[in-house]
Amino acid sequence: MITTAAPDDRAAVLVSLDFGDAADDEGAEELVRLAESAGVRRHAAVGGKRQRPDPKFYAGSGKVQEIVLAAEALNAGTVIFNHALSPAQQRNLEKELGRKVLDRTELILTIFAQRAKTNEGKLQVELAQLEHLSTRLVRGWTHLERQRGGLGKTGGPGEKQIELDRRMIADRVRMLKGKLEQFRHRRGVQRRARARGDVLSVSLVGYTNAGKSTLFNALAHAKAREADQLFATLDTTTRRLWVPDAGTVVISDTVGFIRELPHGLVAAFRATLEETVRADLLLHVVDSASPARSQQAADVNKVLAEIDAGEIPQILVWNKIDVSGLQPGVERDEYGRIRRVFVSARNGAGLADLRGAIAEAAETRQPRTPSPEPISL
Ligand code: GTP
Repeated sequence: MITTAAPDDRAAVLVSLDFGDAADDEGAEELVRLAESAGVRRHAAVGGKRQRPDPKFYAGSGKVQEIVLAAEALNAGTVIFNHALSPAQQRNLEKELGRKVLDRTELILTIFAQRAKTNEGKLQVELAQLEHLSTRLVRGWTHLERQRGGLGKTGGPGEKQIELDRRMIADRVRMLKGKLEQFRHRRGVQRRARARGDVLSVSLVGYTNAGKSTLFNALAHAKAREADQLFATLDTTTRRLWVPDAGTVVISDTVGFIRELPHGLVAAFRATLEETVRADLLLHVVDSASPARSQQAADVNKVLAEIDAGEIPQILVWNKIDVSGLQPGVERDEYGRIRRVFVSARNGAGLADLRGAIAEAAETRQPRTPSPEPISL
């Protein structure tokens, strides 16, 4: 049967190739969740093993034909690769497939663009998009660029910027960086004020969907958005809360981390992530019900090291024990220090233990002098 309907932008072929890495097994499933978070409604998966990427199409030519067939069967307007594509590979694929091709970075950028709520968050996303776009602006390809942008009609900052030439992009990048620097400065002042008040600052970090916002709400009785979508939280939310035996604590819910968080995004979200860097204590939330929990925790620690937050004391909070069947409570290492706390943010199990653990961390905290530099205790 020949389909004549225009390709559906909300339908996508999801391509996840296996190069023999441990994380590849989880990759295809995560890609589905990312795509759905970006607004994809119907999808078909194409997988396969490869030794190394093909220089021209990333996938082999047989695989490309498989993608064509899957896209036709689904009438898909978009093909999404769960990998970083070079500009040339992306161009070749778009020509060969006759459809919009997004790589992993662009997919994540699309989600970020849809989710950012505060001015600062929006500026950070725009900066990351422009920096990504500037690597793709090559002569002879601008006609394709013009059709790009997010999924469907999301438009996004992409579309408007695309007509700008490189120089204008560079100007705008400079302007955005300047504005973000002002935000950073302002936050630094607030942080120093907090440090003077000797308030313990705690940041929730964790892989996206681990349950940070739910835990934040449970601890702070606040209403940060929680959703079964990736990256529901894009802007830092901060609350003061009273912890028995610890006094007032400032707690922040931060952006979710993900495997291979595009480097440009780590850079663009540095200001937000810096909130994490300056905290006295990190609550590293892990989805204890996910089979990929160890890999996810390792990925989070990798990003933390990248933003100089690897040395900040951490309590591992194993969340969702109502699903994983673990018992609430505290686990200590051989020196008696808290290693893990098992909780369910959803039903409240273990939260008293967690408050106790925060109080203990507050007690053992070394006095610090206010400083704009990263602090390691
Ligand atoms: P990002 O914003 O993507 O970084 O996500 P997050 O880490 O803030 O996760 P969020 O709090 O939005 O929770 C993700 C999903 O897990 C939601 O559907 C929550 O309802 C669910 N969830 C969170 N905590 C628990 C828990 O203790 N038990 C169960 N069963 N589900 C939970």
